[in-house]
Amino acid sequence: MNLAMIGTGYVGLVAGTCFAESGNDVICVDIDEAKIAALKAGKVPIYEPGLEELVQRNLEEQRLSFTTDLAGAVRQASIIFIAVGTPQDSDGRADIEQLLATAKAVGKAMNGYKVVVNKSTAPVGTVEQIRSVIAAIAKHPFAVVSNPEFLKEGAAVDDFMKPDRVVLGSEDPAAIEQLKELYEPFVRTGNPILVMDSRSAEMSKYAANAMLATKISFINEVSNLCEKVGADVSEVRRAIGMDRRIGPHFIFPGVGYGGSCFPKDIRAMIGMGEPGLELPLLSAVEKVNERQKSLLVEKIKRHFGPDLSGRTFAIWGLSFKPRTDDMRDAPSIVVIESLLKAGVVIQAHDPEAMDEAKKIFGDRIRYYRRNYDALKGADALLIITEWNEFRRPNFQTIKELLKQPVIFDGRNIYDPAELRKLGFAYFSIGRKDG
Ligand SMILES: NC(=O)c1ccc[n+]([C@@H]2O[C@H](COP(=O)([O-])OP(=O)(O)OC[C@H]3O[C@@H](n4cnc5c(N)ncnc54)[C@H](O)[C@@H]3O)[C@@H](O)[C@H]2O)c1
Repeated sequence: MNLAMIGTGYVGLVAGTCFAESGNDVICVDIDEAKIAALKAGKVPIYEPGLEELVQRNLEEQRLSFTTDLAGAVRQASIIFIAVGTPQDSDGRADIEQLLATAKAVGKAMNGYKVVVNKSTAPVGTVEQIRSVIAAIAKHPFAVVSNPEFLKEGAAVDDFMKPDRVVLGSEDPAAIEQLKELYEPFVRTGNPILVMDSRSAEMSKYAANAMLATKISFINEVSNLCEKVGADVSEVRRAIGMDRRIGPHFIFPGVGYGGSCFPKDIRAMIGMGEPGLELPLLSAVEKVNERQKSLLVEKIKRHFGPDLSGRTFAIWGLSFKPRTDDMRDAPSIVVIESLLKAGVVIQAHDPEAMDEAKKIFGDRIRYYRRNYDALKGADALLIITEWNEFRRPNFQTIKELLKQPVIFDGRNIYDPAELRKLGFAYFSIGRKDG
């Protein structure tokens, strides 16, 4: 099939490349000229495991191409995906301006029947708005479908290639048939393609993210109570995770969720209820998460005293989660800003996110390519993101490089008993003696 993917970010680039990998001809469009120039040369501007190799192969085999010419791409394609950003506006709601502007440009460029598919996360009713915007300008028939994307950054290619389910929301059976055919190679292991009305499809994406964020805030709240009453959240997590009604996933305590989706989608969902329907559970999920981001700094102050000025801390992990360079709404930002305000010197390392971090912190913090180099002369090590390479470090080297053997672990990746035996003062989240 001939496809156009408008918006070549984390979602659009992965989806476009994976559709090309299954044999389709895909033109990816973006307004960012530098991004398109890099991609044309086979350079992937984001870090996503396995993606660059796929982009290069499909470029070489000429199934995948990149352009800034939206109208040209729309004319060549029969199915047009929209995957532009839907950031938070000043009221916390989802800003769908980019989406509607894209829909208008698509409508204007149409040269025949097209299926327009919205992949961006957008409030319930957006598909209907897209339909009205296109209808007001298009001279040809078209269908609009909601196809929310559930991939996870850090595992995006795998998630797209083997989705748990594909959700298609439309009132147009012919368009649904075309999309089912397109997705057929991705659901060969029997995972379902769920067809529903567009409003339910749009809501499914928000409800999924809200459930996941709720699980994180829930276990964080339990972990705080564990600390207060002398229980160990690692034991509690295992005990509840074995209950099949609860399950073991997404109940790891930490320094809060971040990223480009959970925070904005929770706020957008609260906004969808307004006026008239309060969503107190989601407001609490957000409140717990905000508090959780300041937990590590509170622990640091409890250990070193309230005046941190002149101290130096090493930080391992800046991205909002491992295996991505994405810094959007990362908990590390809150931790670092709060420490900088307290007069602390920050020596940071991240395997992939340092270029993105430089855009946020500039020269206000120091950056180190090697994780051990960040430790030299620091008063303590802080773990903010649980990259695999931090899980089994050489603790002897850490001890030698730090001014004093102190670790604040925001992701519970070390064993408190082992660290204590090695002579560390070790602080983690919600665990006994840690
Ligand atoms: N990142 C994720 O993990 C993820 C997962 C599922 C869903 N989503 C949703 O998918 C959407 C896209 O997210 P993302 O993370 O890929 O965003 P992103 O910011 O990485 O990418 C969006 C791209 O759209 C481009 N763009 C904006 N306006 C354009 C226009 N008029 N024409 C062409 N290109 C345009 C931007 O230049 C950018 O490259 C959002 O609604 C997001 O909520 C994201």
